[in-house]
Formats: sequence, C-alpha cells, structure tokens
Amino acid sequence: MEEQDRSSQPRLPHVLIFPLPIQGHINSMIKLAELLAIAGFKLTFLNSHHNHERLVKFNNIAAHFERYPGFEFKTITDGLPLDHPRAGSWFLDMFEDTMEPKMKQSLREVLVNSSPPVDCIIADGLLGFALDVAKEVGIPIIFFCTSSPCSFWVYYSIPDIIQVGELPINGTEDMDRLMTTVTGMETYLRCRDLPTFCRKLDTEDSIFMKLVVEQTRKSLQADALILNTAEELDGPILSQIRTKCPRVYAVGPLHAQLNTRLNAKHGESYDHFSNTLWEVDKSCIFWLNKQPGRSVIYVSFGSITSMSREQLVELWYGLLNSKTKFLLVVRPNSVIGKDGEGEDVVMELMEKSKDRGYIVNWAPQEAVLNHPAIGGFFTHNGWNSTLESVVPGVPMICWPQFADQHVNSRVVSVVWKIGLDMKDVCDSKIVEKMVKDVMVDRKEEFAKSASEMAKVTNQSVNVGGSSYSNLDCLVEDIRIMSFEPPSRWRVLFILIFFYCNICLNKVIE
Ligand code: UDX
Repeated sequence: MEEQDRSSQPRLPHVLIFPLPIQGHINSMIKLAELLAIAGFKLTFLNSHHNHERLVKFNNIAAHFERYPGFEFKTITDGLPLDHPRAGSWFLDMFEDTMEPKMKQSLREVLVNSSPPVDCIIADGLLGFALDVAKEVGIPIIFFCTSSPCSFWVYYSIPDIIQVGELPINGTEDMDRLMTTVTGMETYLRCRDLPTFCRKLDTEDSIFMKLVVEQTRKSLQADALILNTAEELDGPILSQIRTKCPRVYAVGPLHAQLNTRLNAKHGESYDHFSNTLWEVDKSCIFWLNKQPGRSVIYVSFGSITSMSREQLVELWYGLLNSKTKFLLVVRPNSVIGKDGEGEDVVMELMEKSKDRGYIVNWAPQEAVLNHPAIGGFFTHNGWNSTLESVVPGVPMICWPQFADQHVNSRVVSVVWKIGLDMKDVCDSKIVEKMVKDVMVDRKEEFAKSASEMAKVTNQSVNVGGSSYSNLDCLVEDIRIMSFEPPSRWRVLFILIFFYCNICLNKVIE
C-alpha cells in the first residue's frame, strides 16, 4: 500500500510534528505546523491526550484549523497516569525510565499505522527517543529545539565547562566571573547566567542537567535542526551550532513568519491565536484600550514558573511604588503559600490596586504585547515570551527563573541591549527602580533599541528575509526527502510489525 501511495504522484508530503507536552513548546510547534500546512504539506500534530483536551476546551480549534485541509491532530499518552497533577517540575517525571517506553511505543504505532505514510518527523529537541524510533522505522527526522539558540549552545558546552573545572558551582565563587569555555560567549556569559540547574547539584537538578545535556547532544544526530530565531538575532551563536550540525534552519520568530505568510496566502490578518492551555481573560484588552500609549507594563512569567507569596508581594509593592500602571498575570496555582494562602493574596492585591493595576489568571499575551498601551514587559524570559516582546519592539525587565531563561536574559540585556536583567533578586525597591528606568527615566533609550531590533527581526520574516528564505529551504528539503524511496529497513520493519500484530491477535483469540 505504501509503495502504491508513493508511485501515484503527486502526493502531499506528510510531516508528523511531535512536541514536548508543555505550553511553550506546543505553541511554537503548532506555529511551525501551520507554516508547513500553508506550504501545502499534510500535517499530523501529535499531542498528549491531556493537553489536547485542554487545547480543545480553551480554543476554537476547529474554526482555526479548517483553513488547512490536510491538518490532523492525533493524541498519545505523555507517559503519566491520568490523575498525575502535572504541576511544578512535573515534566521531569516524563523522563523517568518507566515513562519513555510507553511514549516510544505509542509513537511507533502512530508512525507504522499512518496513512498516507509519514515522510518526515519533526520532534521536539528534548524528545531524543524519537530519533531511535525514526531510525527503527526508517523515516527522516528533524529536531526542533524550541528554546533559544544561546541556551542550546550553553547546554551543549556543559561537559566542556565541567572538564575545565568551571563547574560544578560550589557556592563560594564569584558569580560574576566570565565563563571561558562557551565559545562565542566569552565576553558576556557569567557564572550567574548559567542555567540554574548548574548551581545546586541536588538530585533533581543534576538529573535535569544530565537530561538536558544528553538530549541536546543527541539532537545533533538528526538529519537537521530547526531553531526559532533569525540570523539577525543570533547569527554568531548559529555559526557555532553549525560547526556541530551543518543543516540548521533558523526560521523564526515563527509567530511573525506565520503572520507574513497568512497575510500573503489568505489575505488574513493574523489573529494572535495562542494555542492556549488555560482560559484566556480577554477583559484585560478592554482595560488596556482605556490606557494612554506605552503607559502600561505587562507582567507575566510564563506557563511553568511559580513564585512564593513573599516574592509576589515584593513585586506588587515595587510595581505600585513605581506609579506605573501594570497588567499582571497570576496563573492559577502558581503562587506557593501555606495551604491556600497563595490564592488569598491575589484577591487581596487585586482589591488594593484597582486604580493602578489589572490582574488576570491568563492573558492573550501576543495581543497584549502588540497593544499600543504597552510600554514594557516584566518577563521570566521563556523563549516564546522573549520573541513575542522583540517583534513589537517592547523593552523588557528580565526576571529569569530556570533553564534557558538565565541565558536569555543576559542576551536581552547586554547583547541586544533592549532591557534590564533583575536576575537573582526580588526586592520591591529594585523592582520599582527598574520599572521607572524602563517606563520613564530611560524610556526613549530602550524604546529606540527595541524598535531597531524589531525592525531587523520583522525584515527577516518578510519575503526575501533570512528566516523567510530559510523556511523555503526547509520546505524544499522536506519535499525532496518525501520523494526518496523508503529504505529497505523501513519496509522490513513495517512487515515485521504487522506480522507480530497478527500473531499476537491469533494468540489472544
Ligand atoms: C518553557 C520554559 O520556561 C522556557 O524557558 C522555554 O524557553 C520554553 O518552555 P514557558 O514558561 O511556557 O516556557 O514560557 P514561554 O516560552 O515564554 O511560553 C509561554 C507561552 O504562553 C507564550 O507563548 C505566551 O504567549 C503564552 N502565554 C503566557 C499566554 O498566552 N498568556 C499568558 O498569560 C502567559
């Protein structure tokens, strides 16, 4: 049947996209999937059962995706039991030895039973086992590393940093000393800017570090690598990564590229569709409509980060004392207090700052950042949030929490110079000072650098721009891959798989 499909040309190339099941990763991978659907591919988006339920619950998926006739969502297990809370650093549980085999088997089944056959897998760079499955079934695989290229490069370099004795951090060293071993970042990457898991080598952190290093190195064995950035944003680091993997496609910022392509193909204006896993409170847009231009700071820390009750109160006092209006997102269950205290404090702050601030559980972030009333973004520097701020030219105050965010905030503040880094501090006086700097005292300086950065970034996703052309190359390369005949191994694997299934059914009967 597969051979027939391949010979009866023309058949649309079929790409299967497989994200790590967390918000930031799903969001950028769906955007890539949409871009490939616009290019005319058949797309299968492989979501976890749990996240797909939430995606359907909080978004009008059917209406949004009906414009792509070959687009299909499929679901598999994330390896965790249904009643698992999936909160905090839950995604580490997915990498436990017992979970991976379940996901691996489900992926294998989807690939083998897929009709038309899958021509290319694009898997999340943290799902290294997808490479083993792709090799088994003989399908080309590209990894999409959804975090920043600079963090990818730091993760890759961790074994070298350990080898020269700059890691582990023992707690007595100067955290501001420069790292000498991360090629290309020697002039600005400090010990403080390394991912947090390099700091405390307790069991959970060392597991995370080992995992990230392993997955990063493994992702370089794929046929190619996709990164959500533009040559203009991360050129020097992309050159470093290309020394390890020559086929790197920098096609971002994906949401901006999607905007360009949707406009060109369907004449549609981009609706900032965010693939959200929480209920969006759009009332904040009505509140923003009433505020003067560039007068509001948007404060949000992504989809995983949590903070203590004390930290939230410090932040809130800093915001209030800065006398700047603010829109604050406090995700449900993200404030850790004693038994339920977290929720109380939010209600209390809401009541006390009615005239100065607006607090929601979850905002339509892209729409917010593009709103003319927004003048700054107080962010944790998740990579999506960072890019979503770069595109409309909104300066940032960076309060990174973990993983890539520590590296990203350093790049934002000293390489791009479009914000301030508040790393490792949460003090109301510093919050107040930084908000005043970005929103008042140094407003024009930051606005100028952010708008220059926005200009080159937006050019990269326009016709002829670097990211636009790189996406064209990626599309062409996938097309070529899909016309190549299936390997003998793939045919053999599928035959064995079906034979085993028949035998198993006979035994059951
Ligand atoms: C995680 C990691 O924290 C991050 O470091 C890594 O780069 C990607 O995965 P997350 O915390 O989800 O990211 O942050 P981010 O990458 O910024 O993604 C959050 C997404 O949620 C953004 O696309 C943002 O637009 C969306 N969001 C956030 C909303 O739609 N509404 C909100 O109120 C907050």
